[in-house]
Amino acid sequence: MTNFKRTTVTSALPYANGPVHIGHLAGVYIPADIYVRYLRLKGEEVLFIGGSDEHGVPITIKAKKEGVTPQDIVDRYHGIIKKSFEEFGITFDIYSRTTSKTHHQVASDFFKKLYDKGEFIEQSSEQYYDEEAKQFLADRYITGTCPHCKNEHAYGDQCEACGTSLSPLDLIQPKSAISGNTPVLKETKHWYLPLDKHEAWLRKWILEEHKEWKPNVYGQCKSWLDMGLQPRAVSRDLDWGISVPVAGAEGKVLYVWFDAPIGYISNTKELLPDSWEKWWKDPETRLLHFIGKDNIVFHCIVFPAMLKAEGSYILPENVPANEFLNLEGDKISTSRNWAVWLHEYLHDFPGKQDILRYVLTANAPETKDNDFTWKDFQARNNNELVAVFGNFVNRTLVLTQKYFEGKVPARGELNDYDNQTLSEFADVKREVEKLLDIFRFRDAQKEAMNLARIGNKYLADTEPWKLAKTDMQRVATIMNISLQITANLAIAFEPFLPFSAAKLRGFINRPNFNWSELGSIDLLPAGHQTNTPELLFEKIEDDVIEAQVQKLLATKKANDMENQSTNPIRENIVFDDFTKLDIRVGTVLTCEKVPKADKLLVFKIDDGLGGRTIVSGIAQHYKPEDLIGKQVCFIANLAPRMLKGIASQGMILSAEDADGRLVVVSPSSQVKAGSEVK
Ligand code: 2FM
Ligand code: ZN
Repeated sequence: MTNFKRTTVTSALPYANGPVHIGHLAGVYIPADIYVRYLRLKGEEVLFIGGSDEHGVPITIKAKKEGVTPQDIVDRYHGIIKKSFEEFGITFDIYSRTTSKTHHQVASDFFKKLYDKGEFIEQSSEQYYDEEAKQFLADRYITGTCPHCKNEHAYGDQCEACGTSLSPLDLIQPKSAISGNTPVLKETKHWYLPLDKHEAWLRKWILEEHKEWKPNVYGQCKSWLDMGLQPRAVSRDLDWGISVPVAGAEGKVLYVWFDAPIGYISNTKELLPDSWEKWWKDPETRLLHFIGKDNIVFHCIVFPAMLKAEGSYILPENVPANEFLNLEGDKISTSRNWAVWLHEYLHDFPGKQDILRYVLTANAPETKDNDFTWKDFQARNNNELVAVFGNFVNRTLVLTQKYFEGKVPARGELNDYDNQTLSEFADVKREVEKLLDIFRFRDAQKEAMNLARIGNKYLADTEPWKLAKTDMQRVATIMNISLQITANLAIAFEPFLPFSAAKLRGFINRPNFNWSELGSIDLLPAGHQTNTPELLFEKIEDDVIEAQVQKLLATKKANDMENQSTNPIRENIVFDDFTKLDIRVGTVLTCEKVPKADKLLVFKIDDGLGGRTIVSGIAQHYKPEDLIGKQVCFIANLAPRMLKGIASQGMILSAEDADGRLVVVSPSSQVKAGSEVK
């Protein structure tokens, strides 16, 4: 194994077409920041690169929608995103942008070098074109039905419903996202990176030499490699991006996924114009990419192939990608506003960045998708940060003020219980390090919290406030040990909760620590003066959480209303199809709840033909007795279905009102039972 001298840490460049939310933080930026802070505390040489991804189709689509330029869009969101990261203590060494001059130059030179080396294939093919908009339809400019899951709103590059990568030609019934028209095929020339030629070394490098990569990352790479790699286009017909720097490429730009990862290099160069190369080309540099799972193929296969083709760069040593974070059981979505936006969180919880950092790390989607809920946020704050960490620190410092005027007392002889407590806490450094080194941040944080639990238990068991009347020497020993544990907490939590760790250092009057001091019980010498503490964390009351839950419910309701009003009309059918449906009016004779089924009612219907039984899922919207005698419309020729052991002979028609209540469809005046609806 190589002994690395330094580490380059990159974190995915977020698209500058919207603000950042908790999913971004949990998946990428908090883990990267924890890791970087940990290395810095250890005194290692590390560089943390971030920036905004400002090219690509979604940005141009947003600009078109708003009637502004793509530059306006990225200027707006780059600022918002950068500020959110600063406020949450994400300590990038640089946070730049892919519209920078440096980046355009670096990306353009990178392409040119590969072009000159003959690393691309040049190929003409037929691609979708919108004749009205006079534009080729790359990536998200085209939508249609996914061939795999039949989702009707798949994009030209990906189906978000089933996660499959697509190319525009895969879509069934393609439509232009600009005009809604069916596109035509038109010939166009592009440059392709022949990934198939790179497959052999990629297989060996990943599947044999990087078996230590996280199972979710390794597994996804393996399945890409097992499917066989294909050449990938690295240019697009678009007017927003970095121009393809070769003759005959007018109107063409670099594909956003070609230029974005080069952004890591450009940003390093922008920060360190004279010494950037050692961070990217020295084999003694360890390169790590922190990303979300949707970026795995680009960072483990495409970008390494680009770096290898260029020839002078190192390859990533690890790509600790996370899965996704959901919000209250639903996928986070910018377009549905289903997210906790960082700028809104800070507005509602000013100064409480560390609570969110803590909760997102405790629930980090490290091995599988995970869920954020406001109830869990409250519970973790109240039961862990306040009741364990804050409580221990506060009791320790307040008692030190009370009994020793804030000065660290000298400890006397240790008894068995003191020794047992110290031996429990001695392992923490090794454990936290072991876990951080393999990117298991949630377990590492749990281990740091254990330190506070040990301290809390120690104080509760030894009860110095009772001993103060009889044995001040013993109280001095207990408080000394508690203060040493408190100082250790300031080190152990620095990577995770930097704002609270800084506050804590202020309380104990120690401006800084090194990681190597973790585990020591001599961090605060006898006589050292501590400061009067404030509360480290505060309880969050139910009404505060309820307000957040209500905010999300309002979003859900707004989305549902929008869906109702904008649900597209289904595809046309011919008249013969309509006549296949036999819709009739019937009169409800009896109506009862179906036992052990919350949603079902069973009806006896007078259908003018001798009667029938129908089971319908409207029990939450009606009392059975209110429906008796009412006329309803039902589908009379639907094949019978067994529902909870009852044969249902048809389907009662209902519509949803604005509150989501189902209302049965009835004729506006009484008609004969069995009348056809035509
Ligand atoms: O998925 C995304 O948000 C991309 N903008 C990530 C790019 S990462 C890197 F390549 F820049
Ligand atoms: Zn799909």
